[in-house]
Amino acid sequence: MVDVVCGLDFGTSNSTLALIKDGAPFLVPIDQGRSTIPSAIFYNFEDDATRFGQQAVDEYVQGTEGRLMRSLKSILGTALVGERTALRKRSIGFTEVIADFLRHVKTTTEAHYGITLRDVVAGRPVHFIDDDPEADARAERELAEIYKSVGFRNVEFQFEPIAAAYQYRSDAGSGDGPSLIVDIGGGTSDFSIVRANSGGGAATVLATHGVHVGGTDIDRIVSLETIMPNLGLNSAMKGRNLPVPSWIYNDLATWHKINGLYTNQIRTMVRQIELEAARPDLIKRLRSVLEQRVGHALLGIAESLKIELSESKAVSFPLNIAGDPLSLDATAVQLRFFLKSWLASIKTALSDTLALGGVKAHEIGTVFLTGGTTLSPVVRDLVKKTFPRANVVSGDNFGAVGLGLAIDAERRFKA
Ligand SMILES: Nc1ncnc2c1ncn2[C@@H]1O[C@H](COP(=O)(O)OP(=O)(O)OP(=O)(O)O)[C@@H](O)[C@H]1O
Ligand SMILES: [Mg+2]
Repeated sequence: MVDVVCGLDFGTSNSTLALIKDGAPFLVPIDQGRSTIPSAIFYNFEDDATRFGQQAVDEYVQGTEGRLMRSLKSILGTALVGERTALRKRSIGFTEVIADFLRHVKTTTEAHYGITLRDVVAGRPVHFIDDDPEADARAERELAEIYKSVGFRNVEFQFEPIAAAYQYRSDAGSGDGPSLIVDIGGGTSDFSIVRANSGGGAATVLATHGVHVGGTDIDRIVSLETIMPNLGLNSAMKGRNLPVPSWIYNDLATWHKINGLYTNQIRTMVRQIELEAARPDLIKRLRSVLEQRVGHALLGIAESLKIELSESKAVSFPLNIAGDPLSLDATAVQLRFFLKSWLASIKTALSDTLALGGVKAHEIGTVFLTGGTTLSPVVRDLVKKTFPRANVVSGDNFGAVGLGLAIDAERRFKA
């Protein structure tokens, strides 16, 4: 079998694998013919098999008994990485879950083309963890070990916004003035400033920067603002001037923390809160969500609401929790309001990126947008306002990083 080099973009929400054919990168149809795969794993308790990508999400949504895992990239470099989650007859470490997923992506590609993948340029955010270089280096080591454990021989990392810059240049050529790459995905927002060289060849990287702020944080904010108050968030404990504990709601609105709530200990605690709450009817809904294990489905509704508000001015979602029919209503104006501090973090990160590169906003010739969250008009408006003179372009929102990683892999391993 032929050894082929590849680029692999393991994303918080979606992943891609790209190869090179006749000098040009292409995305492998990795998931039921689609070129992106949701970074989701479902351990099915009914047939003891493991499902990946869209099928994983579908089986969970259909109510199949099992355990859904999402947003696993977010645990790299954190204390959660060493933890395990209970399956039907065994438990599994979070790093093994990531390994299962990456192995699936690798072997699916190998079987499809009859090739062997040994050398990979793997994407990484500029910072896995903010303001903690040690934890950040640990996260990269953890991910490298996982890549090795599934059979990759040479694993080299590239910053995701530099990979996107390679793809942008191969798409669009060089423009006037330095270009700013803005990649806002599910878990992180990553930036680079590159300047094309007049003589051709590799562009000069003027700055790279990134923050652990992304689309999954928007899901959390939307859930906490619109869904969780229906489950008792901000309601009081009886006879006491105290609200019910908010951390449960916070975890229930955070993709990679949901499974941690499905324990007997938490269930007992919630039953106790129900007895002492001023609004036991609301806490009953919380208890039902935990007992039915529909936390991911609920957060999925917050995500859908967010995505629909990228297109529509107002949305309304019917919801049924513990037999109570509810209607979730939200408007684009409300979303902008909810996202005030989220947007402020992105704004700060943009100005920090400019400062790192010694470049002024008005000097940026082109802004290249990629990552699913840059489809949001709230984000686009912020970029246009910050760079009024720049040409704002976008390519494949979900594929640019993977394609750029393959370009990089070809250069590094085939040189
Ligand atoms: N139309 C849309 N409007 C707003 N957000 C969207 C839209 N479509 C997708 N998203 C969001 O984009 C995010 C996924 O983007 P992407 O696939 O680029 O992330 P990722 O590469 O997996 O994450 P990361 O690079 O941070 O690890 C999700 O949070 C998703 O909800
Ligand atoms: Mg990404």
